[in-house]
Amino acid sequence: MHAIGIDIGGTKIAGALVDEYGTIVRSERVPTPAGDSVLIEDAVVGMIRSLSDGEDVVAAGVAAAGFIDAAQSTVYYAPNINWRNEPFRVKLEARLELPVVVENDANAAGWAEFRYGAGRLYSDMVTLTIGTGVGGAIVASDRLFRGGFGAGAELGHVRIVPDGLSCGCGARGCIEQYGSGRALLRMANELADAGGIGQTLADVRRRNGRLSGKDVAVLIDAGDGGALAALRQLGHWLGQACASFSAVLDPQVFVFGGGVSVAGDLLLDPIRSSFLDHLPARGYHPEPDFLVAELVNDAGVVGAADLARLRAGQG
Ligand code: BGC
Ligand code: NA
Ligand code: ZN
Repeated sequence: MHAIGIDIGGTKIAGALVDEYGTIVRSERVPTPAGDSVLIEDAVVGMIRSLSDGEDVVAAGVAAAGFIDAAQSTVYYAPNINWRNEPFRVKLEARLELPVVVENDANAAGWAEFRYGAGRLYSDMVTLTIGTGVGGAIVASDRLFRGGFGAGAELGHVRIVPDGLSCGCGARGCIEQYGSGRALLRMANELADAGGIGQTLADVRRRNGRLSGKDVAVLIDAGDGGALAALRQLGHWLGQACASFSAVLDPQVFVFGGGVSVAGDLLLDPIRSSFLDHLPARGYHPEPDFLVAELVNDAGVVGAADLARLRAGQG
């Protein structure tokens, strides 16, 4: 039996028909419509209809970037989209003949890594998805942790800097403001302002009018000192955060996904070293593994489909 997974991202909506082994049978993608949430709903409905056409489909899972309730139905709040108490599942099910579950995007991606990717050899895993925001997924004793109201594992909104930068969630000093792709771009811009090792960043910024995530990625790839320094700053914050997560969750592995994770060891090395510097009981606490995600771009759709299948009792 197949299930459908949909992943609503900031720039694109990805969808896939997925079999019971986590293999993508067919996939589609469209740009995320800007502005109105009705347009997003239309795009998701259209994609689920077309992917299920002529197929035996048991359920659809829709991954969205926000705080989602325990019934996997309503998006309480989305820091980077305009959703407040959005009854997304009810709206989708009214237009489709399938059971739908709404899942946090990072939970979906983390679950896919746990089942089929970098986390498959472990029972206790923490995943951080480093993109526009910072998403979190927790697997404890082989189970996805959701919390009492469904909205747990929002690891990007753990406070790391007292009264620090304000965040889309309404709080201040969240990890998301120091460890996301957006934060990396801010750090790159600060280094460009300062000159010195940031000189190449400044040159590229002058030439292109502004720095993009792509510019920074290209410079990281080219070994530019400024871009690597920005990445090290990001890793420094993320490593500190992971040290605190270890004190609470004690995972055997940290898996990093999202766009920034393609930097591989260039990201993992500073994370690991800052982790070791800040780890409570350091020198005595066993060291977890640090890995980059294996499914990367497919993780959201594969995980959403798998979780929908499990919820429908066909797992
Ligand atoms: C949201 C999370 C989401 C993450 C990654 C955060 O801002 O609060 O729900 O998982 O971004 O998209
Ligand atoms: Na999450
Ligand atoms: Zn926040």
